[in-house]
Amino acid sequence: MLSNANSDLPWEQQALHLVIETVQEALHDKSPAEQQSLQAALMTLRGFLAASRLTHEEGGTSWEPFLEPIAPSDMSRIGAWSQTLRERREAASLSRQKLSELSGVPEGALQALESGTYAPSQMALLHLLSVPELDLETQSLPWEASASDPNLALNCWLAPGFDPVKMIKDLALQVNGHGGHIEQSYLYMDHMSAAHWCAIAEQKDYDAMQSSMPLERTAARIIRSNGQCGLDVVALGPGSARNEVRLVKQLMMQSGHADLRLYLLDISQPLLSVAYRHAAEVLADHGGAVFAIQGNFHHLPRYGQLLYSPRRAHRRRIITMLGHTFSNLENELRFMRNSLCGFASGDLLVMDFRLAYASATDPEEIRRKDPTFAVRRHSDLSQRRDEFLAGPFKRYGTDQADVAITPALDMSCAVPGSYGVDLRAQVHSDSGERQFSVYYSRRYEPQQLMNALRREGWETVETWEYGGESNPCLLVLLRKMN
Ligand SMILES: C[S@@+](CC[C@H](N)C(=O)[O-])C[C@H]1O[C@@H](n2cnc3c(N)ncnc32)[C@H](O)[C@@H]1O
Repeated sequence: MLSNANSDLPWEQQALHLVIETVQEALHDKSPAEQQSLQAALMTLRGFLAASRLTHEEGGTSWEPFLEPIAPSDMSRIGAWSQTLRERREAASLSRQKLSELSGVPEGALQALESGTYAPSQMALLHLLSVPELDLETQSLPWEASASDPNLALNCWLAPGFDPVKMIKDLALQVNGHGGHIEQSYLYMDHMSAAHWCAIAEQKDYDAMQSSMPLERTAARIIRSNGQCGLDVVALGPGSARNEVRLVKQLMMQSGHADLRLYLLDISQPLLSVAYRHAAEVLADHGGAVFAIQGNFHHLPRYGQLLYSPRRAHRRRIITMLGHTFSNLENELRFMRNSLCGFASGDLLVMDFRLAYASATDPEEIRRKDPTFAVRRHSDLSQRRDEFLAGPFKRYGTDQADVAITPALDMSCAVPGSYGVDLRAQVHSDSGERQFSVYYSRRYEPQQLMNALRREGWETVETWEYGGESNPCLLVLLRKMN
């Protein structure tokens, strides 16, 4: 018999309720095997009921992303969750309308969640966690991280199709060729390149600039907009991971919880080992988990495990690309479009880059103001950098060669308003002189870069300047749009 509470419903929903109640009553007399198939049928019927409600309530479209039908096995935990949600809202003296304004979850969807008629979707949970007044922690959410989550058992992953031996052979072919551009991924591959890179990163000037990056403010901003949800930080090209670990440590300290996973993805196996050891040591006292991935960030769309977001996860993903790596890419906008395409809407990206010293339309002014073009002092830093860039020619060239690194101005860049410093290697050997482009480093006009990134689907959340007048840099937090 249909209960009175349902008598105001449209006739299709009343019919579905009737069938569900009848099947439920029939369950008790059945064998376990029959019960199992009837439970599956019940789940399907509840799904139809939920879909039918969504199309009736508010035209169905605006609530949909926030609600999910309840599986029979989840009945009791959803009951407890809906009660917690109501209690927390009332304890915070928030009306449903106010909570809807604060969280962005429609009022009707909140009502449905509090009455336990629907389960919350991942989006609903993330929105509700971002309201500090509710004081929700991950423990009070209806889904727990499964103990059998394979990520928890791994600390290293070799990305599919990644072939470092082939890459080194390609590099050897390139340095023995007639010239051309060596893509930056090749510069970090072998152990000696990694050692040279670490020597640069440990240099006083470089370290001082990187340490002034205001990552604690970025962490605060991330926590403010995401509340207490679990965090998955995907560090692209972490190098020795100094910056990335600093950010993660801040995230953990400021949020006061350890529900954080750090994925270090680097092309260089030696750098990955350095990064992993550093991250594991520093984060040991704070909890959290660290995973090393040897792979190529240009191939990210192939790495399904890293991109997968279960609908029921209450986790926020944060991608980092620090140490100006973005500005070294051959075409930064195509990278955003093609390599980051698998990330989900709402995912965050933290990156940094150098600002333009002069307008990109004024090459004379750039040459005058940009320190890379100043008469080259043989500072420790520039010496270390030249050693790093010349290394592959010395190690893989078939002829003994002298290598000189000189900067050239590149005015044809993908991002409007930017210009590039193209560090070129002049290679002199018995077989003659050849020229290679070995390192791009772009400088940006921030507004034009933000506009270009927005066209690629990433909106700016906040920016922070650092580096002072001599090294003007910008740290940016971006969010992937729908
Ligand atoms: C400029 S360093 C930045 C290091 C670090 N993020 C920092 O803030 O100092 C660039 C890093 O990106 C890595 N890398 C370069 N190309 C890569 C690629 N295609 N895939 C993955 N990692 C890459 C390098 O091995 C290196 O660790």
